[in-house]
Amino acid sequence: MTSLPKGSAVHPDPTIHAPGAEGEGRKVYFVSFGCQMNVLDSELVLGDLDRNGYSRTDVMKDADVVLINTCSIREHAEDKVWSLLGRARQVKSTRPDMKIGVMGCMAQRVKDAIIHRAPHVDLVLGTSGFRSAARDLEDLFAGGGRVVRVDRRPDPEFLPDADREVTARPDAFRAYVTVMRGCNHDCTYCIVPHTRGKEVSRPLEELLDEVRRLVDDGVREVTFLGQNINTYGKDLHPQRKHTGEICTLLERSAEIDGLDRIRFLTSNPFDMTEDMMRRFGQVPKVMPWLHIPAQSGSDSVLRRMRRHYTVAQYHEVVGWARKHIPRVEITCDFIVGFSGETDEEFEGSKQLVRDIGFMQTYVFKYSLRPNTISARQLPDDVPEDVKRRRNIELLAVQDEIAMARNEGLIGTQVEILIEGISKSDATRVTGRDHSNRLIHCPGEASMAGRMATVEIEEAGAHSMIGRMVALEGTH
Ligand code: SAH
Ligand code: F3S
Repeated sequence: MTSLPKGSAVHPDPTIHAPGAEGEGRKVYFVSFGCQMNVLDSELVLGDLDRNGYSRTDVMKDADVVLINTCSIREHAEDKVWSLLGRARQVKSTRPDMKIGVMGCMAQRVKDAIIHRAPHVDLVLGTSGFRSAARDLEDLFAGGGRVVRVDRRPDPEFLPDADREVTARPDAFRAYVTVMRGCNHDCTYCIVPHTRGKEVSRPLEELLDEVRRLVDDGVREVTFLGQNINTYGKDLHPQRKHTGEICTLLERSAEIDGLDRIRFLTSNPFDMTEDMMRRFGQVPKVMPWLHIPAQSGSDSVLRRMRRHYTVAQYHEVVGWARKHIPRVEITCDFIVGFSGETDEEFEGSKQLVRDIGFMQTYVFKYSLRPNTISARQLPDDVPEDVKRRRNIELLAVQDEIAMARNEGLIGTQVEILIEGISKSDATRVTGRDHSNRLIHCPGEASMAGRMATVEIEEAGAHSMIGRMVALEGTH
């Protein structure tokens, strides 16, 4: 823990405190950027604030607290936070009692810049210590000053997930569960090992207990999260090469009555084995969807990225999945314009998208991150307009493939878990099928949380529309 000399407001114990209502009546303006793990971290902190009597507001000038959960994965994500902090500074100039907090990857990575460039920020909480937010805010309101916590607490009992308030969920029927934090890989472009540190897994029984509590509270689908989830448990059993502990977690979770669907991400192809695929395929509650980022379809680029697999090995991994998991769909991440990427190397990525036939692909323009291996050793030499063009081109290839594949589903039936009313059309409900495809169909809000069978009538590249042919709980 680092304390700054502006006041007395540093609490000695960063772990969470007993529920209370010190924040009664206070309003928080909360913004979350980044990955699914950040979505869940935000939920954890909002749950703590809720327990302490805070309510949320969407109007910054009405807030007593502005709290931002940040992302460092690309420069653009950090730029958005700086501009939000600029806006918060203006509001604070008229409301000096307001407290401003920054948590997550950027707080971890650029704490010094935040401290010096943004003196109006009162609270800086890194990727390990953010569960103390509620307590720290009370100390700040009571004593002023500034609190900065960026130490790593690697011991599992200090992981930020402890003592989760399961009822503080944005979605009544689905929930994320973090199974591990950090990543032991050293992909040359990636900031995650710097911001989130080495892999630390949560004990299996603790995870099962959390899932049970979520299911008791109405959850039917869980998505397990880890930056590199196939190595879940390796740090708990360092003597074994492939623990397969992720499979054990899925199998044991599937035994929980009331839980219907299990998903997990993200899978690094390097850490997947055929035996794991076999075990995934044997658990019907494990949904047939794998997110396996390839990053590039060129062996030379993969080498520069230090991904430790070749395009042929990537194909092999997908082959195992298709052999052992009926109806499996694969989604993927690609980076375009990585250091030195030639037109020919980029063509490799287009070819891989065509050859695999992904259900969906996320494409990112390479963004140099300070202190990564590539920042030190490899020039960021692909011009921005080339990165942009490749981004558009690769997405166009993907959309064409997704469109053709989805059109092939017209007339077939899929089962969805209804999430609620569609954001774009109030006469429709939305849900996801087994493979995580987004499906819309006519319906009403009271159907949320039920399974429905939908016959697909129209297909787009990113979603489909159908008609409901059966609804759980009706005859
Ligand atoms: N294992 C992680 C992946 C890291 S971040 C997970 O849980 O999702 C998600 C994606 O961001 C990566 O798969 C990669 O495609 C992209 N990415 C990571 N670093 C990047 C960088 N420096 N520039 C552009 N994209 C990047
Ligand atoms: Fe990043 Fe590679 Fe790990 S992309 S999160 S270092 S697997």
